[in-house]
Amino acid sequence: MPKNFMWKSGRPLPRIESHTLRKLEVLKNYLDVYFDTVVSTPASDCLNITLVDGFAGGGAYQNGEGVADGSPLVLLNAVNRARERLNQNRKKPLEINARFFFIDDNKYHIEALRERLWQEGFGSQIGHGIEIIHGKFSEKLPDILSYIKLGQRAGRSIFLLDQFGYLDAPMESINLIFSNLKRPEVLLTFAIDGLLNYLQETSSELEKFRQFGITDQFISEWNANKDDESLGRLVTQRTLMANIQMRSGSEFFTPFMLWSPTDKRWMMFVHLSRHQAARDKMLGVHWSEQNYFKHIGPGSIFSLGFDVRLIETKDSLFSFADQDKAIMNDQLLENLPLEIRRYMTGGKLPVNVLLKNIANRTAATNNDLFEGLMNLARYREIDIFSKEEKIKRPGSKVDLSDTLAIPPQLTLFTPF
Ligand SMILES: C[S@@+](CC[C@H](N)C(=O)[O-])C[C@H]1O[C@@H](n2cnc3c(N)ncnc32)[C@H](O)[C@@H]1O
Repeated sequence: MPKNFMWKSGRPLPRIESHTLRKLEVLKNYLDVYFDTVVSTPASDCLNITLVDGFAGGGAYQNGEGVADGSPLVLLNAVNRARERLNQNRKKPLEINARFFFIDDNKYHIEALRERLWQEGFGSQIGHGIEIIHGKFSEKLPDILSYIKLGQRAGRSIFLLDQFGYLDAPMESINLIFSNLKRPEVLLTFAIDGLLNYLQETSSELEKFRQFGITDQFISEWNANKDDESLGRLVTQRTLMANIQMRSGSEFFTPFMLWSPTDKRWMMFVHLSRHQAARDKMLGVHWSEQNYFKHIGPGSIFSLGFDVRLIETKDSLFSFADQDKAIMNDQLLENLPLEIRRYMTGGKLPVNVLLKNIANRTAATNNDLFEGLMNLARYREIDIFSKEEKIKRPGSKVDLSDTLAIPPQLTLFTPF
């Protein structure tokens, strides 16, 4: 087991590495946005939610002279912060009924976590809202799913699957989550380079690789490209991302890439969800955390799968920084009309249908896309209709409930 993730009561805490700190920061920021979004209507007075930490660890790290919270404490504190923040200036108090499951298959880690929870003032909740479970995540999952389905109609839940490598949170388990619950979100750590570095000619015969869509063709493409350390690797990573998204049963996939200086390899912290709005929120966190996320190719519209042209053209790397945002917004103006025509039926395209179809292929948030559509309307490349079917004035704000159409004079000249 890696030293940086070893806990034992009475022993010094493991030292936190920069990429782990970064991951926990993304988690914390995402949870804040999550709670602000799900409880956005003043009328709702109760939120039932289950938070599952499938690979919980010992609860704390040494961070320089101080101590950093491990993921279970990040989850617990996010709920407490949300309770406080969301009840400010509220006439009708909001109740958050949160239930936590912390799983780990190492008894020393479980012991250290229990101790940490007592130190942090959560001890009395153990067994009453906080369940600590010793065992393997994939074996404990079915019972947790039954529990969630029994108690909550909406099945609102967050699963943090912060595994070491790539095998302890099998695709089958992730698929089970998405096929059983209505509103789950999964945050998965995946050692993407770890997997690629271990691939051999015969790996496609093994189920542990086949579950990620590793075929003979995948391996031969990887072998052909892997010497190009930067682009070849990124292109194969993208194919793997597309496979994971398809096999997980989720609809939306947002990868946050983390570089581990110790292991000299990329790790992925992926957000999987069934709702475009959830992906949009995660993308917002990526933009606010800039620099640490790199994605190959343009940010406007791209495809997640393998695209050898990116190696041939040496297309630039995209990262979430200010200059990339400006370039992306310009490119959107070029690319959006094509996408609009592609998904249009009967001359009309609801904005929410467009967003759903391009979400996995753009680094643009919904606000960026709305801005792009507004500019296209200004240039008279599209017309935008409100839900009352009235044409909107060019420059008016775009809403999810709007519908797009091509202005009549343009349809005469287009081949679509
Ligand atoms: C990367 S560490 C988790 C760190 C923790 N999430 C945090 O951020 O503080 C992975 C943990 O998973 C546990 N583990 C490994 N295999 C497991 C399995 N199959 N099921 C549950 N826990 C497992 C290890 O004992 C270790 O504590």
